[in-house]
Amino acid sequence: MGVCPAWEVPLADAEPRRATAVAPSNIALLKYWGKRDVRLNVPETGSISVTLAGLETQTTVAFDDALAEDRVVGTGLDTPTARSRIVAFLDLVRERFGVTAHAQVRTESNFPVGAGLASSASGFAALTLACDGALGLGLEVSELSALARRGSGSAARSFFDGFAEMDPGSRADGSDAFAHALGPPELLPVEILVAVVSEQAKAVGSTEGMARTAATSPFYRAWLDAARDGLPRLRDALLAGDLATVGPLAEESAMAMHAAMLSSRPPLLYWRGATVEVVRRVAALRDMGLGAWVTIDAGPQVKVLTEPAHADTVAQSLAEVEGVSRVLRSRPGPGARRVEPRVAGEGA
Ligand code: DP6
Repeated sequence: MGVCPAWEVPLADAEPRRATAVAPSNIALLKYWGKRDVRLNVPETGSISVTLAGLETQTTVAFDDALAEDRVVGTGLDTPTARSRIVAFLDLVRERFGVTAHAQVRTESNFPVGAGLASSASGFAALTLACDGALGLGLEVSELSALARRGSGSAARSFFDGFAEMDPGSRADGSDAFAHALGPPELLPVEILVAVVSEQAKAVGSTEGMARTAATSPFYRAWLDAARDGLPRLRDALLAGDLATVGPLAEESAMAMHAAMLSSRPPLLYWRGATVEVVRRVAALRDMGLGAWVTIDAGPQVKVLTEPAHADTVAQSLAEVEGVSRVLRSRPGPGARRVEPRVAGEGA
């Protein structure tokens, strides 16, 4: 794979209930913002995402009867909640599959923390697949997706090559709330550019932000209606490989979500000044005939969808906007997969 930093996994004495998985980040083209069941983490509405090539988390899990508690090390664990969410997920796996052993978890992401790329999406997808391998569960991809959803809703979409659709399902137990593949990376010729405008940690995480919007925004129901209305239209355009229709629908979805966020009490204002300037720049590029559209998540960075032929020009233009510190580039890529861990003493 060659993109994750090299690190070594110590050999355990006991039987090797250990596995490593790599999972990519993804960006929603049609957003998820709101839960039908908070405890089971079931979304209110479906969502559609693009899997991001090269922006990945690699996670090794080793279940070990000798451990008195879970040990979690790696990147993206700066907040106490990040670590406790992983332990809560391991508790869920233990309970569901009758496992008593604690686990050692080592997780590394190769994309910059604070770049506005969902490390929870790649992190929980990689953790789910590594647990499946370590415990020999042999889960179907739909079961992996539903399980990863319990860690983070967006993680359910990181198992698939190219493009995925999350189904909110209708069962009370959430067992039919999982994602499925919509098509391979070639389905839609697109490049995804991330204009990074601030590296500060976000003030309000997605889970808390969604709860606030659902509880206080007068536009929450309207947002859910907009998401339900936009989903089949975006899916059809995607299946037709029609970026000129996907782009505006993705932009609409992001703006409708941010309208609901802004109208929450107190308001959820994830944007910074440079966020607005990038949105304006992309509109200006469109006026010049370049196919480019924005999408924004629960943070200040702007992700720009653009035709590959125009990606150099658009990236250059974004980098010139005052307040943009760097521009990351990605394309639709492969979904989560098992890999062999590096073992101490082997290889470079
Ligand atoms: C704005 O998946 O991070 O990125 O399920 O509470 O962990 P939890 O939320 P999370 O929310 C993602 C929100 C979003 C839109 C999206 O990815 O669909």
